[in-house]
Amino acid sequence: MPLTYSRYLKIEELLALQQPASSPPEHDETLFIVIHQVYELWFKLLLHEFDKIRRDFSAGDLWGSIATWKRARMVLKTLVGQIDVLETMTPMSFLTFRDRLESASGFQSTQFRELEFLLGHKRLQILDYYPPDDPGRGRLDRRLRERSVQDHFYDFLATRGIAIPAALRGRDVTLATEPNAEIQDALVSLYRQSPDVGVLLELMTDFDEGMQEWRYRHVKMVERTIGNKQGTGGSLGAEYLRTTLFKPLFPDLWAIRNRL
Ligand code: HEM
Repeated sequence: MPLTYSRYLKIEELLALQQPASSPPEHDETLFIVIHQVYELWFKLLLHEFDKIRRDFSAGDLWGSIATWKRARMVLKTLVGQIDVLETMTPMSFLTFRDRLESASGFQSTQFRELEFLLGHKRLQILDYYPPDDPGRGRLDRRLRERSVQDHFYDFLATRGIAIPAALRGRDVTLATEPNAEIQDALVSLYRQSPDVGVLLELMTDFDEGMQEWRYRHVKMVERTIGNKQGTGGSLGAEYLRTTLFKPLFPDLWAIRNRL
């Protein structure tokens, strides 16, 4: 039997996965399910791309990593753009099926947490929200213990002759990225002396800004859709989400802007 589009991409299986919990199905629940599933697929791709970037960094492959950062940045722009689609759903429409979500929330997206951990935003206590039998818990646990993109970025800097401080080389990789004054000095020199590395640093800054933009757009979407109500995940909703804003993934890249 020749391979077809549908068999290769498992289209029938894919189209069977959108199952509204409301009965009869509320019109906008289909949008809500599709958009979340699409997000999860993009998260899967981003994890795949960042795994490559880690390898590129450790191998000192500047141009390989630049190509992949460009892709990751475009995916992120798509993620932010998708919020416009979901914002066509009114608060009244969301209320027609919100109760059906019970305690389910994007807060429980394991892949989003994996992405945060992979990018260096590690928090051990996040694991408490995932029961040991949760299918994604093992992956998250592994990501916590793996070296982040930031750790591999130090490897890359070492291939460019930068002396990486001992405290960073031997650091506990389950902890979040911390700003470092010596790394900041090195980044300032690289910006001045190695424009090719400067291209990489700008792409990393773009991605970081894009993640902050996604968080901001998500909070505004939450505010316009549920106001100041609690989240289905049990948090204070928009009030909690506002505490996650304006926190960079790569603090060293932001700390030096006034020195460039
Ligand atoms: C009407 C649409 C949406 C509403 C009202 C909404 C609401 C919320 C609320 C209230 C929270 C805080 C946790 C809680 O108590 O539940 C949250 C967290 C979160 N949501 Fe959404 N959300 C929406 C759409 C989305 C979409 C499309 C995604 C994409 C995957 C998403 C991903 C997340 C993530 C990753 C978090 C955790 C953020 C963090 O802890 O930093 N949400 N959402």
